[in-house]
Amino acid sequence: MTRTVYVNGKYLPENEATVSIFDRGFLFADGIYEVTSVLDGKLIDFDGHARRLARSLGELGMRNPIETEDLLDVHRELVRANDIVEGLIYLQITRGAAADRDFAYPSEDTPPTIVLFTQNKPGLADSPMAKVGIKVISIEDQRWARRDIKTVQLLYPSMGKMMAKAAGCDDAWMVEDGAVTEGTSNNAYIVKGGKIITRHLSNDILHGITRAAVLRFAREAQMDVEERAFTVAEAQEADEAFFTSASAFVMPVVELDGAAIGTGTPGPVATRLREIYLDESRKVAI
Ligand code: PDD
Repeated sequence: MTRTVYVNGKYLPENEATVSIFDRGFLFADGIYEVTSVLDGKLIDFDGHARRLARSLGELGMRNPIETEDLLDVHRELVRANDIVEGLIYLQITRGAAADRDFAYPSEDTPPTIVLFTQNKPGLADSPMAKVGIKVISIEDQRWARRDIKTVQLLYPSMGKMMAKAAGCDDAWMVEDGAVTEGTSNNAYIVKGGKIITRHLSNDILHGITRAAVLRFAREAQMDVEERAFTVAEAQEADEAFFTSASAFVMPVVELDGAAIGTGTPGPVATRLREIYLDESRKVAI
């Protein structure tokens, strides 16, 4: 089946969808994105992603080309047209195509580019990885200083994934000034003595939509949460570790830089939080 994608107001077969070579997303990574998961054919945390999208646009002084209600319609139409039961929707908005390559932003009347496409991922919620946990390495965080904005500059995270692969691992946790910031495409957590510890919000990390929901569910379940930075050594000595993202939900981490974390198997807190997150998110999916 040819995938139907959305480009600048039109639904098109993927091989007919085009963007200008002068698009600033292509030339300058001058764009932002969101990834929203789909379970049971419904959108998970759509409102949170729409709010963060508006914030990212605002921080970069970029015009929002679409009202939230219309954006919801586009998401739903793509889910329908592509028959997505479990999967992801990728959304990207760039500052559009100027007439030429120029570092200065183009004039205000340059229309932003908006692209959405689906990724079909049957079995996303029942991931075999979640049952065994994943292995991570630590690497230096060499990204820019505004990681709170969800920009499409993902070269360093891609390099981090490749470094992890080369080390026989699944992902990398990035470290700055001795403390873990976050994973290449997820927020990082440890559990010690029953307490869930995750880095506090600032410009140093992306404000994960899954993070916000998971911390809310954890607090509602009377779990202890502490928002502060932690070191690699602390993580290696933790009882458990895990990460969260829209594409992996809650994912247990069982090894860091070759050292087993806890028993080296997914811990009870991560496993419980994954169940709660999936159950509660499904209930309010739209
Ligand atoms: N990544 N931190 C980073 C650097 C991320 O790229 C992501 C998401 C997260 C988790 O945010 P959320 O819970 O809102 O997905 C944290 C997406 C999934 C991606 O790039 O594919």
